Amino acid sequence: MSATIIDGKAFAATVREKVAVHVSRLKEQNGITPGLAVVLVGEDPASQVYVRSKGKMTVEVGMNSYEHKLDIDTSEADLLTLIDTLNKDPAVHGILVQLPLPKHLDEDLVINAIDPAKDVDGFHISNVGLLGTGQKSMVPCTPLGCLMMLRDHHGSLSGMDAVVIGRSNIVGKPMAQLLLGDSCTVTIAHSRTKDLPEVVRRADIVVAAVGRPEMVPGDWIKPGATVIDVGINRIDAPEKGEGKTRLVGDAHYESCAEVAGAITPVPGGVGPMTIACLLANTVTACCRANG
Ligand code: GUN
Repeated sequence: MSATIIDGKAFAATVREKVAVHVSRLKEQNGITPGLAVVLVGEDPASQVYVRSKGKMTVEVGMNSYEHKLDIDTSEADLLTLIDTLNKDPAVHGILVQLPLPKHLDEDLVINAIDPAKDVDGFHISNVGLLGTGQKSMVPCTPLGCLMMLRDHHGSLSGMDAVVIGRSNIVGKPMAQLLLGDSCTVTIAHSRTKDLPEVVRRADIVVAAVGRPEMVPGDWIKPGATVIDVGINRIDAPEKGEGKTRLVGDAHYESCAEVAGAITPVPGGVGPMTIACLLANTVTACCRANG
């Protein structure tokens, strides 16, 4: 094992401390408490865990948390009415609708109903366009967290070859935009990419965001490269006992850590940074709303 472990958990704690300082200043100097509304439709167990965790950390940094848990059969009209109410509520500075939504709801329509200034996920089409053209926007939390870890580790990313595996709107595409913004040479690889191992072997930075457990083995990694593992996959772990599971990333940790210069672990890498960036985005939204 030679790679430096990029400790996302510790880094996220420092980001949350800074957010908490900012929040207390807003309270003392402006009499404003930033507020984050999280909307969860249905009872997807993973989403419930994420939403609970977001709510807990929101309160821990001194902000107000508003949780809206809706039945799985909530109509699109009712969801849009709630979003409209939150858009108009001056106590709510950030709105997050947890994805995925149940199949009968149009995700694009729902996301684009959120006031772009309160879109702390950065998924609204206006924010996507602003990011793509290098303008001030709300930046999606997971890619932002990855970028912060990369900048912290490397300083400048200018001129580095970066390969993003995965082309989702939530991670892959905005990650590529951010890396391009930091002057990387960026390749977005995906399920149809020809000779993926060869493409990955060229990279100084590999961001694995495919959602397939341990898909990237160590022999795809250029020696000394940095591996940012966005995957959070639960797999069976019979070695821990019958019916037990464990979390793994999209990279095969042990073999990648042998070759890489630096790597994020799962858990304790990208995951905590995502929530820390959500809190930071909420403070940003609050500051922008209040001049
Ligand atoms: N589901 C998985 N990741 C995310 C995220 O970053 N934001 C939202 N809203 N839903 C998600």
